[in-house]
Amino acid sequence: MSTFTYSSPFPASFVFGVAAASAQIEGAAFIDGKGESIWDRFARTPGKVAGGDNLDVACDHYHRFDEDFALMASLGVKHYRLSISWPRIYPQGDGAPNQAGLDFYHRLFASMARHGITPWVTLFHWDLPQALEDRGGWTSRVTVDAFARYADTVVKEFRNEVKNWITLNEIRCFTMLGYEFGTKAPGRKESAAVVNQTYHHALLCHGHGVRAVRQFGGAGARVGLTDNCDVSVPVTETPADIAAAKAWFLDKNLHLLGAIHGKGYAQAYLDRVGADAPQVLPGDFDLISLPTDFLGLNVYTATYVRAGRDGQPYEALALPPSYPRADSPWLNLVPQAIYWAPRMCHELYGHKSIFITENGCGYNVEPVVNRETGGEVIDLHRRDYLRNHLREVHRAIADGVPIDGYFLWSFIDNYEWEDGYERRFGIVHCDFATQARTPKLSARYYAEVMRTRTIV
Ligand code: BGC
Repeated sequence: MSTFTYSSPFPASFVFGVAAASAQIEGAAFIDGKGESIWDRFARTPGKVAGGDNLDVACDHYHRFDEDFALMASLGVKHYRLSISWPRIYPQGDGAPNQAGLDFYHRLFASMARHGITPWVTLFHWDLPQALEDRGGWTSRVTVDAFARYADTVVKEFRNEVKNWITLNEIRCFTMLGYEFGTKAPGRKESAAVVNQTYHHALLCHGHGVRAVRQFGGAGARVGLTDNCDVSVPVTETPADIAAAKAWFLDKNLHLLGAIHGKGYAQAYLDRVGADAPQVLPGDFDLISLPTDFLGLNVYTATYVRAGRDGQPYEALALPPSYPRADSPWLNLVPQAIYWAPRMCHELYGHKSIFITENGCGYNVEPVVNRETGGEVIDLHRRDYLRNHLREVHRAIADGVPIDGYFLWSFIDNYEWEDGYERRFGIVHCDFATQARTPKLSARYYAEVMRTRTIV
């Protein structure tokens, strides 16, 4: 019988961390030879980003990383997930690498090491070089070839500093939202066939990322994908609703996790997309389905599913208008999402090591109060989100789901893509006018969780 009970500490090997991404925090958008990214361009396109906000300065992490790592260390953060800016390394997407960009990340990793913080590095978190977009972006195999060279360069260069690699962040978002709905950069609205091809190219890049780490990562290197699978939560935890939720999960994730694990697109997917199916070249799935060491999951929300009626395999339910949500309209509060997503991936695809690579919530109005005593933000909404989600992570571990770590999104308020600086996801408040950092109540709360390894 398991001795892991409700009040047990998280396992000793469990990784607690925080996450952020290059474009969202670094700033220095045109400094030291960095090339333009599709987000630099998109942000300057009128009407695309709230308030017309751009990434030029963001949290100025480029110049303040030492101070930021000192703050992380003071909160007891020992693991930090960050991403490397492709256009900082290859300003034109390919060609010659930019030494100043490589030097920046050497300085950054050195500072992390001084502060006792282990890096978890994502190769691509949405900041595609604009020069590659000009040659087709994710619709073109030119981007796949360029990514392969970029991944090789980065993994070789940082093999002594980085052992934990993540290939891509959320394929769905940068393909579907960027090329189908156009709400994210590059803001295109393409046909289904073109959009399906962007998924396929992204899957190939994931494969190249895995290959690069195997080839050049050195001893002890590990690698995985970060996916934001569509998540189902059974309305009741009964066999019938659980089976329905699983059927829904399989269906919705057929084109990404399903394809990777099925070593090809399933017939059900091909039937669904018909003539719009991606073009697959011989050997593509040898690369795409290379074994990984872990699966990263970004979990924010979910869809409730119950057993279907009239012979249907499932019924997905629309939420009532007053269902609780964060200020991001898509961020419905469903903490069980973080229990079911990893459990489904474990049971359906056999994952044996899963890291929650993002989980968090965004709100607009989070004033700094009590300035006379150093300042704080009373973000009890975020403390509640965090606690409820950690409870479900803990429950999953108790039920034998192999979750090995949790990264909170995000360390600091940052550039929230098309929502600009209005939407705050940080546990540290950033005053974008002065760059002052103020840990919120949730930062103190999480510090105590990390220190005690229990849900306080
Ligand atoms: C992304 C982050 C983003 C967060 C909140 C995730 O989809 O990976 O970059 O800031 O969600 O929207």
